[in-house]
Amino acid sequence: METSFTLSSSLTKEERYQQFIPLLATYLAGEQEAVSVLANVSAALHEAFGFFWVGFYLVKDKDTLVLGPFQGSAACFRIRKGRGVCGTAWAEARTQVVPDVELFPGHIACSSLSRSEIVVPILQEEQVVGVLDIDSPQLNQFDEIDRHYLEQITQLITQTIRLLPKPIA
Ligand code: SME
Repeated sequence: METSFTLSSSLTKEERYQQFIPLLATYLAGEQEAVSVLANVSAALHEAFGFFWVGFYLVKDKDTLVLGPFQGSAACFRIRKGRGVCGTAWAEARTQVVPDVELFPGHIACSSLSRSEIVVPILQEEQVVGVLDIDSPQLNQFDEIDRHYLEQITQLITQTIRLLPKPIA
């Protein structure tokens, strides 16, 4: 199955998300392999929106996020709960929209080119199991439109794959 996530350049950001989400839902339907799904979601977001860095950090143990599939330059392997934008999104279980990373206390600069960022927690059975992180080299690149649709995308992910440990049978 070949699927293109390249969208028309004349669309507004909101129209792009509105076209992208049904395409992604169809593409993911029936696939349950977690790493493969996360890899293709980051690739699809990169293709459709041209994000500078887009990818996942996944909860490991009780206080650490580890780097998951992503598109962009090599990034920090581990982030502690409550640290940086990603660790804050986990600790607060709330999306963080950061218009200027230099003004975010404790921001972790994986790339010195990153200027603004959005981090969306991924919730499964009311627990944060990871985060979706997107960085831009320009200030003020993310807003309520991104928050609204990226939260829908993280819900689609947890409807598709299980990121919590399997319950003991
Ligand atoms: N800036 C993030 C770290 C991850 S990188 O941006 C890929 C943070 O402050 O949590």
